[in-house]
Amino acid sequence: MDSITIIRPDDWHLHLRDDQALVTSVPAAARGFGRGIIMPNLTPPVTKVALASDYRERILAQRPEGSDWQPLMVLYLTDNTSPDEIYAAADSGFVHGCKYYPAGATTNSDSGVTDLNNMHSVFTAMEEVGMVLQMHGEVTSPDIDIFDREVVFIERHLRSLVDQYPNLKVILEHITTEQAADFVMSASDNVGATITPQHLLYNRNHMLVGGIRPHLFCLPILKRDIHQQALISAAISGNHKFFLGTDSAPHTKGAKESACGCAGCFSHHAAIELYAEVFDQAGAMDKLEAFVSINGPDFYGLPHNTTNIVLNRQSWLLPESLPFEDTVLVPLGAGTTLKWKLAE
Ligand code: NCD
Ligand code: ZN
Repeated sequence: MDSITIIRPDDWHLHLRDDQALVTSVPAAARGFGRGIIMPNLTPPVTKVALASDYRERILAQRPEGSDWQPLMVLYLTDNTSPDEIYAAADSGFVHGCKYYPAGATTNSDSGVTDLNNMHSVFTAMEEVGMVLQMHGEVTSPDIDIFDREVVFIERHLRSLVDQYPNLKVILEHITTEQAADFVMSASDNVGATITPQHLLYNRNHMLVGGIRPHLFCLPILKRDIHQQALISAAISGNHKFFLGTDSAPHTKGAKESACGCAGCFSHHAAIELYAEVFDQAGAMDKLEAFVSINGPDFYGLPHNTTNIVLNRQSWLLPESLPFEDTVLVPLGAGTTLKWKLAE
């Protein structure tokens, strides 16, 4: 097989940042994709429909000419989000989800929710209007080891949440553990998960053996090999609950190669090809289309894209760095060779 044609994929979790960053991040996000779910963790965060509308306009201003890629907007939940904002989001037509960040869990999450128990009226409104809840599923208690934060979140919070709101559509974002994959598989059809290319391609040895590789540092943090294998199994299973969400997040080289490097990996230079690499290595190229193009829109209740993309078996070298803002960023897999390439 030297070429495959699949329905155009979508990215169900990505970060674009704002202002000058959009010059790089928007065209990259539109490369090969039909739609993208735009994470709202700006400073200040996108907490209101009016802010999402303004942000959407700034994004569309950077969309490449001739592209019909669509940004799908998300509200950032805080302790002060009101049910009325959820109703307004549903009415807007361009807000497709609300993001739960535990306060302090990750990049730009300081305004996140401090106690899930205070969100009852918001979750009830979301359930009522069919708004998707996108969860950063990690606890932030300082006594919980960073490698255990996802599993503890599932046991402490997520199990009871999905029981309490059986009609709420919940996505456990960027899952990193076997326990998360198992939880999602055994939950109802209202529970799904996104998986990033970095969690499929790497485990914590890649990040820590022989020296610290800050460009592999993202949250939730890379786990052991057995978890990487469980995520690959989930992605290539064809199970409709698992779909593509790159979590691509541009950070400057300097911000990552620092004494306190920030979390996030940029993968939009080669997103679809990085996933193709995983599926090819697992002998599962026939399952790629479901994961990248079908399961996501089905979960969100949106139509499949009506155009296709072609991937060719063609070796190409990923760049060591890319221009970003006034400096550069180091993309995921920099300097490595991939076997599949998007026909552009
Ligand atoms: C993301 C970012 O840079 O905004 N970073 C990351 O490590 N994944 C935030 C997030 O999704 O946690
Ligand atoms: Zn993210």
